[in-house]
Amino acid sequence: MTDTQEANGVILIVDDSKANLELLSDYLTKAGFHTMEAMNGENALKQVEYKAPDLILLDVLMPGIDGFETCKQLKASPFAHNIPVIFMSALSETIDKVKGFSLGAVDYIAKPFQEEELLARVGVHVKLRSLTQTLERQNLTLKQEITEREAAEAALKKEIKERETAEAALQKLTVELEKRVEERTSELKKALEELQQAQLQMVQNEKMSSLGQLVAGVAHEINNPVGFICNNIAYAKEYSQDLINIVRLYQQHYPNPEAEIKEEAEAVEIEFLIRDLPQLLDSMDLGTDRIRNLSLSLRNFSRSDSSNQVQVNIHDGIESTLLILGHRLKAKGDRPKIEVIKNYGDLPDVSCYPGLLNQVFMNVIANAIDALEISNEPPPGTTEESPSTTTKIAPNPIATIRISTEVVENCAIVRISDNGPGIPEEVRSKLFEPMFTTKPIGQGTGLGLSISRDIVVEKHGGQLKCISAPGQGTVFVIEVPLEPLENSSSQTRPSESPTQEWADEKTVLIS
Ligand SMILES: Nc1ncnc2c1ncn2[C@@H]1O[C@H](COP(=O)(O)OP(=O)(O)OP(=O)(O)O)[C@@H](O)[C@H]1O
Ligand SMILES: [Mg+2]
Repeated sequence: MTDTQEANGVILIVDDSKANLELLSDYLTKAGFHTMEAMNGENALKQVEYKAPDLILLDVLMPGIDGFETCKQLKASPFAHNIPVIFMSALSETIDKVKGFSLGAVDYIAKPFQEEELLARVGVHVKLRSLTQTLERQNLTLKQEITEREAAEAALKKEIKERETAEAALQKLTVELEKRVEERTSELKKALEELQQAQLQMVQNEKMSSLGQLVAGVAHEINNPVGFICNNIAYAKEYSQDLINIVRLYQQHYPNPEAEIKEEAEAVEIEFLIRDLPQLLDSMDLGTDRIRNLSLSLRNFSRSDSSNQVQVNIHDGIESTLLILGHRLKAKGDRPKIEVIKNYGDLPDVSCYPGLLNQVFMNVIANAIDALEISNEPPPGTTEESPSTTTKIAPNPIATIRISTEVVENCAIVRISDNGPGIPEEVRSKLFEPMFTTKPIGQGTGLGLSISRDIVVEKHGGQLKCISAPGQGTVFVIEVPLEPLENSSSQTRPSESPTQEWADEKTVLIS
């Protein structure tokens, strides 16, 4: 067998006639095929198991199993089921051909053989088989490729899905992280603001408490000597009156005394002395009385004793506050004194924290004095030769603070107003915010009104309101329930005009 023969194909010839076997083998070998030979069906079946040919030429009529049975068994064999079978027979009846094709044969050659026809038919079927095999191999490769691609695609899809899941988780994490960072930042910001506010409040409280201690200390030190003087003035009056009586008796019974006594009496102006001494003692009495009242007022202002609410007269608190601020009300440089007009109503004692309430009066009155001082300053850029025509307190050139009190619906109402420049809306809306100030650095912390509102609203269940407009002065309305916080029901009063209460009141000048 040569390479060419092998390349053309291997043909198994099955025929019980030796002559036929030789003839066919001769034709095929010449045509370049390699041949295998079997004399019966059984032998053919054994040979294909050993080596599969490319085509089988199968005789129909043979001893033992005939061609049809052999074909049937070949098609059932796993080694030979796809090897093309061509029947050879002298029988040329149609029924046999049909049987052959139905058993799986691909062609039929009639005996006696025509060499060209035989070679042509064998050639076609070998070629067909070769093409079929190539196609099957390609198919297999293609199928494998498809399977691999499908597997790769599935793996890719899985990876994409995993990445998408990871990305979504990452995004969720990022959002959560950003939210937490935002929350922490705002918590820290809030804590910082609270800390700053607490610090400022501590400074303010410290200032108030040291002021209170100083005032209480001074009042206490004054109290003893003043008490001593007060007590002794009564005796001094009594004793001096006794002495005057005796002098009068002497004058009555001895109208012409010794010359020396007469001279001395004239020298001391005895008549004037007798008239003036009681008056002098009276005015000393009045003076010490005033000092005693001042000391009482000072102690009243500084009463930080009350961690519980106590019943007090609010007017005492206002009076002592005015007393402490008295030096700021006096004329200063070009600024005339500030007039204080009081119109006190009939207030019952109010249940409150007096020390804290006095702090409110102090803040509001000090703000009014600040506003009046500012409004008295000449506007920037004006000189005495060219006075400004826009003096802020033009309607009432006398800087005035008015304080009125009254009871409305179980609330003590204190109104403190000034005829200063008034407050524009943009400032008024921020008035009670902690650390809001329009004053230069070092002059105002911006805590006065914020603390005052806490005291009035939180501590007393009352209200602190401001009514003001530029050029119309300012009114602060402090409302404190007469009863303690638990029983109080604070109500809003209808709003009022800042100029409403500039009516006829008893005028008290503090100078
Ligand atoms: N009677 C008033 N007339 C005009 N403006 C006022 C009056 N009272 C308060 N204000 C304005 O309200 C602002 C806030 O007042 P607040 O008492 O809270 O702080 P402050 O007086 O500036 O500083 P502090 O009282 O802490 O020393 C003031 O800076 C001022 O602009
Ligand atoms: Mg203030």
